[in-house]
Amino acid sequence: MLRVEHIGIAVKDFQQAVPLYEKLLNTPCYQVETVETEQVNTAFFRQGETKIELLQSLDPDGVIARFIEKKGEGIHHIAFEVSDIRAEMARLQAAGFKLLHPDPKPGADNKWVCFLHPKDANGVLVELCQERKDL
Ligand code: CO
Repeated sequence: MLRVEHIGIAVKDFQQAVPLYEKLLNTPCYQVETVETEQVNTAFFRQGETKIELLQSLDPDGVIARFIEKKGEGIHHIAFEVSDIRAEMARLQAAGFKLLHPDPKPGADNKWVCFLHPKDANGVLVELCQERKDL
């Protein structure tokens, strides 16, 4: 794991949350992107070495909508940058962590991503991410 790449925060409403985080972080949102496969809108803010990713569900039954229903708005996941996502997935699987999907998926912000089951990390949803070089 190289560093915390971003922290994902589940929000109900971008109209409200994007300007609020711009004010809080004192930096403009630099990218809004829809991830079709996850049915979410994402909004990114740079904060030094790390980013904040806001997540809004496009589907009332989607993972983010269900998360907010269960736990309310708030921190959804922590994403760690890795240099070789497949190697890191293999290492973690061998160490007993459950991967939520067997192959890296295309994620927001030009990344390959893989999520680990939160029950293996004291309730924290962990994302591995690696910059996509193929674009
Ligand atoms: Co993320």
